[in-house]
Order: sequence, then structure tokens, then C-alpha cells
Amino acid sequence: MTQTPHAESSSLERTVARSQEINAELDKNPSDYRVLTGDRPTGHLHIGHYFGSLTNRVRLQNMGVDTIVLIADYQVITDREGVGPIKERVYSLVADYLAAGIDPDKSMIFLHSAVPALNQLMLPFLSLVTEAELKRNPTVKAELADSQMPMSGLMLTYPVHQAADILFCKANLVPVGKDQIPHIEMCRVIARRFDERYGRAHGDQPVFPQADALLTSGTLILGTDGTKMSKSKGNVIELRMTADETAKALKKAVTDSDRTITYDPVNRVEVSNLLDIAGLCLDRDPQSIAEEIGDGGAGQLKALVTEALNEQLREHRDRRETVMKDQGYLESIIRAGNTRANDIAEQTLTEVRTAMQMSY
Ligand code: TRP
Repeated sequence: MTQTPHAESSSLERTVARSQEINAELDKNPSDYRVLTGDRPTGHLHIGHYFGSLTNRVRLQNMGVDTIVLIADYQVITDREGVGPIKERVYSLVADYLAAGIDPDKSMIFLHSAVPALNQLMLPFLSLVTEAELKRNPTVKAELADSQMPMSGLMLTYPVHQAADILFCKANLVPVGKDQIPHIEMCRVIARRFDERYGRAHGDQPVFPQADALLTSGTLILGTDGTKMSKSKGNVIELRMTADETAKALKKAVTDSDRTITYDPVNRVEVSNLLDIAGLCLDRDPQSIAEEIGDGGAGQLKALVTEALNEQLREHRDRRETVMKDQGYLESIIRAGNTRANDIAEQTLTEVRTAMQMSY
């Protein structure tokens, strides 16, 4: 079962090709798909989430794809000791979802910890993977290194828990970045082995579908210092910030000593990142923005990005502020989502017990 480097690269190619194929077909039969996506409530959403995942979720939802949004609260404790101010973060996430256009009448929003039957899938799923498979997951290895903690049982097995997230609701499409491909692969393996080893509940359909990755396309937005966004580095622009706070953060953004603004993502990472942000907000080619600024320098670039970003986020922030004031409304959305998720998970668990001959 050992994967050779060749097998890994061909699996990546297969995943990329399949993702492109689905993306091209998606609007023809959106109702063939159920999407599961989610965030860990480890902080507040920032502009990287906005351009990277939020707008895509709204696009899928509005296309008519059945979209389920998981707030992965149990997954918070994979790489840290405590849960932090988790409740506040959960409400903040829901507010950003709603502000971005997630419609709770169309898309279900729910929490891990509220759905016991989802978590119960973990047990049979763990029987389907080996220690060696878990230990060689490159994403787990990278996250372990970042966490500066010893490997916990949960860290080692969270990709299996994540398979339960996807499979409890029989999602067949998961929007992810490339780093999550090993997890989707594991999810497919678990679905297949469940079918081989434990069989079916009824009829000729396997209990679980083979989920595909829908790979995130587009520009990766970096922090205001040109490195990966991270709260601890203070380089993040959160959606909840005010226009003034955004202006201050961008004023401090790192640039370089070359006064002429050019778009060069390889050699001028920081300047190009600001141009990318402006490009996304204005729906313009970053290169043309660079040419327009030219010798205007970093000051002019920052002024332009600040205005474009604040304008882009103005309505989002207004809506966010309004819903944040109505905690009762946010609660009602979470409760409705949790109730629905429990119904779906119970149904799946019943099928699992039937397949495993454990329905007494
Ligand atoms: N791991 C994802 C993140 O950190 C969140 C997540 C949890 C998720 N379960 C999932 C994503 C299932 C896709 C599918 O953002």
C-alpha cells in the first residue's frame, strides 16, 4: 500500500483534472452536488477567507448547489491546548457568513459538537485506516510542526474525523486548497473500504459517496508584510475591522525601496500582494493598476488599495454589524442548522448500523 512519489503526483494530477472538469460542469446540473465546507473557529475571518472561500461558497449556493457550512469547533483542539474565546468566534463566523451572502434558508450552518451521530462515525472509520497511513499524511506532519506540541491522538486522527464531516451528510464535493488533498484522498479511501468491509444498508448503492475536491482557484492573498497571514504576526486584515483600522493596517504594510510600482509577484512579493488585493476589489488586472500608479510610489498604491478594499467591504461590514447586534437571530440560525444536521447524521448512522448488522 506504500505510495511511490509517482503515485502521489499522479493522484494530484487526477484531482486537479477532476476538479476542473466539475467546475466546468457545475452550473449545468448543480443539484447533483452537495458541498461540505467549513472553518475552524480559531479566530475571526479575514480578507483571505473573503476572497478565497466566502465568495465561492456564495457562488455555489446561488448556483443551486446544496451547500453545507460546518463550524468545526471540535477541530480547534487538534493543534492547541485550549479552545480560546470560542463562543465569540463562532458568532463572529456566522455573522460573516450571513454578511457575505450565505442564506440560511438555502445553506445549512452547524457545529461539530452539536451533532453526536456525526462524531460516532469516527469509530467504524478508525477501523478502516492504519497507523502507517495516518502517520504519513503530509498535511498532518506540517501542522504538527507548526503547532509546537507533541502529536496527540486527535492530531493524528483528525483527517478521519474530517472524513466523518464530509460523509455524515454524503457530500460529494469539498472546496479546498491543495494542502487538503490528502484528507480528501483519505475520505475516499474510507468510503470505499467501508463498502468493501461492512457492506451496504440496502440496495446496490454504497452507504458513502466518493467525494471530490473542488480546488480553490485564484490568487492567494498574503498578509500586509507579504508573508502567510497569521494573527500572531499582526499582518491580517479582518472583516470585522473598521475602515479606519483597515487604513491603519495598510499604512503599515511592508513595501520596498523601488519607487516605481510594478507587478512582479516573484521579486516584489509585498507590492504585488497589495496590487492583487486592489485587483480583486476593482475586478481589474493588477498589472494595469501598477502601470497606472507607476512613479506614484507606495504611498499612492496604499491609498488606492485602502479605498478599493474599504469600498468592497462596506456593505459586508454594515450587514455584519447589524446581525452581530442580534444575537438571538444568530442563535436561531445555529440551532436550526444543528437540528437539521442531527436529522441527517442520525439517518446516516442508521444506515451504518444496518450495513454493520448492528441495528437491534
Ligand atoms: N480543516 C478545515 C480548516 O482548517 C476545516 C474543516 C473541518 C473542513 N472539517 C472539514 C473543511 C471538512 C472541509 C471538509 O479550514
